[in-house]
Amino acid sequence: MTGIHIREFTLADTDSVRSLWAAAGLKPSRSDTYEAMGKVATRNPGLVLVAEDAEGRIVGTATGADDGRRGWVYRLAVHPALRRTGLGQRLVGEVEDRLRARGCEKLNLLVERDNPDAIAFWQHLGYVEDDVVFLGKWLTP
Ligand SMILES: CC(C)(COP(=O)(O)OP(=O)(O)OC[C@H]1O[C@@H](n2cnc3c(N)ncnc32)[C@H](O)[C@@H]1OP(=O)(O)O)[C@@H](O)C(=O)NCCC(=O)NCCS
Repeated sequence: MTGIHIREFTLADTDSVRSLWAAAGLKPSRSDTYEAMGKVATRNPGLVLVAEDAEGRIVGTATGADDGRRGWVYRLAVHPALRRTGLGQRLVGEVEDRLRARGCEKLNLLVERDNPDAIAFWQHLGYVEDDVVFLGKWLTP
């Protein structure tokens, strides 16, 4: 994995990040807009990360967030050509380090049940399932 470095997301990365998410098979979300991605990065300085290869291509992402009590990680993605090279683990490690430095004691995430590869990945990193029901409601139409 030489030549891949992890850096903070900037708005100029928005289109490349969206392309990576499509290539990685992440389901599109209505918060993938330029505006929404900028908002997440502004509210979570230093936690929204991209992995860039030597040619300047975005090959991985991890969006960390800190709600003041717990850390969260969203939109973890690695380009299919680079899977199983340790990049996902590196991205998560970077988010964990940055959250720990902010005093955060626990990192949470949501993963769909029909994504066994991702579940295996998170378990390998020491994440364990909690017996909770995830509920949500859109506040805007
Ligand atoms: C999940 C994902 C980010 C993992 O990234 P990655 O760079 O391939 O993962 P790593 O190389 O760091 O894997 C570390 C370890 O996790 C486990 N692991 C990773 N992918 C796995 C898979 N598909 N099946 C089983 N175990 C897996 C392995 O133990 C692996 O170590 P090993 O390769 O030495 O056996 C990547 O598969 C991906 O982008 N998936 C599509 C998007 C997605 O589902 N994101 C998660 C949303 S919650």
